[in-house]
Amino acid sequence: MSNDILSVRDIFKSFPLPNGQKLEVLKGASFEISKGESLAIMGVSGSGKTTLLHIAAGIDIADSGFVKTGRIGLIFQAHYLLPEFDCRENVSIAARIQGIDKNSADVRAERILQEVGLGERMWHLPSELSGGETARVAIARALAIEPEVILADEPTGNLDEKTSENVKNLLFELVKRHNTALVIVTHDSTLSSRADRTLHLEHGILK
Ligand SMILES: Nc1ncnc2c1ncn2[C@@H]1O[C@H](COP(=O)(O)OP(=O)(O)OP(=O)(O)O)[C@@H](O)[C@H]1O
Ligand SMILES: [Mg+2]
Repeated sequence: MSNDILSVRDIFKSFPLPNGQKLEVLKGASFEISKGESLAIMGVSGSGKTTLLHIAAGIDIADSGFVKTGRIGLIFQAHYLLPEFDCRENVSIAARIQGIDKNSADVRAERILQEVGLGERMWHLPSELSGGETARVAIARALAIEPEVILADEPTGNLDEKTSENVKNLLFELVKRHNTALVIVTHDSTLSSRADRTLHLEHGILK
């Protein structure tokens, strides 16, 4: 549909097992999201949420199916900040990959880090951040490319309840302000309840 900024259709994905058989993870999973909308994808551990998100983001390839997308920002389950770069550089690099010159990318990174409440942590290395701060840098980095949609994989995993609540508030506030669509995969029902819509990944399909 023309309104969709991310459309994922009929995705099949299996992984080879050492015994020669295949682990069929996704068996025709489909979803789409339109501008400014938020969607939660829930499913138990091992149901294929990360696999689906990586295929939607183009960092893994489906066995079959179809993905149509515009510009996406990613928040990974393990965050993957670059350890030898400070917060500003981690965010700025994302903007530079998009082709923006270093000065403009640095300015943009500083603005977004202020926005996520890390103005004072700009020059810290990832190893010097708390879990909640790390999650905020990951959000800032996803926003740095001015995406149409953010794909977030358990963005509040491994955080205490209060910090998790703060990060959830921040994420929903930011996507609203930037009019960015949001796909969150999670098994946290307090997180999914904040989304406009929820789908459940079960037996390889979304319902
Ligand atoms: N590269 C791989 N090779 C083999 N099996 C894999 C690979 N990646 C994932 N799997 C398997 O596919 C299944 C789905 O994994 P996935 O990481 O997508 O689950 P998930 O729903 O994100 O789980 P969690 O909630 O624990 O993060 C799991 O059984 C996992 O072991
Ligand atoms: Mg996962």
